[in-house]
Amino acid sequence: MKLDQKKLRNVLGRFATGVTIITGRDITGEPFGFTATSFNTVSLDPPLILFSVRKGARSCDILSGANAYTVNVLGLHHAPLSDMFGRNTGLKERAIKLTEMCGHSMRGVSDALAVLHCRPYAAHGAGDHVVFIGEIQEILTSEGCRPLIFYNGQYHTTVPFNDLLPAQQEKKVV
Ligand SMILES: Cc1cc2nc3c(=O)[nH]c(=O)nc-3n(C[C@H](O)[C@H](O)[C@H](O)COP(=O)(O)O)c2cc1C
Repeated sequence: MKLDQKKLRNVLGRFATGVTIITGRDITGEPFGFTATSFNTVSLDPPLILFSVRKGARSCDILSGANAYTVNVLGLHHAPLSDMFGRNTGLKERAIKLTEMCGHSMRGVSDALAVLHCRPYAAHGAGDHVVFIGEIQEILTSEGCRPLIFYNGQYHTTVPFNDLLPAQQEKKVV
């Protein structure tokens, strides 16, 4: 049975995720980057992560030949940057220039919550996407900002569960 594509997207969007921008350089040294919510952890030893990229996306071709790339885990303040790197608004080139001008190497957005420098470990075609598995080589972190969350087609952030409970109930939970 063929599933309705719009419904499928809506249902899958009920899974709340963090937001990343994957950055790197192509073989000519040109910087590239794209927004990805498909990021997830795979293994601690060796330290592996994964994300999936739509076949036909420019980034998919570049990543296939890359010998390194970086996963930037975004904070709430990065929402505009996420849109620039993730939507076909013609702003991506500007976002790349801006990111470079701000002193970021394009191998990493330095005020990201986490920056994971990876080398390619494996890549597997799966339907209309390619799943890239990277081995983490180096980790950088920043503190003090809320994470950017993507849920139901919109950006959100987190609130600690206990902050939502009335004081009486909180006592029972703790
Ligand atoms: C919040 C958000 C999450 C996204 N997650 C993914 C993803 O996990 N995989 C993917 O292939 N595209 C994802 N996209 C779309 C890509 O970022 C977008 O198609 C990108 O501009 C592709 O650029 P390229 O053709 O230059 O590679 C996402 C976009 C947004 C706004």
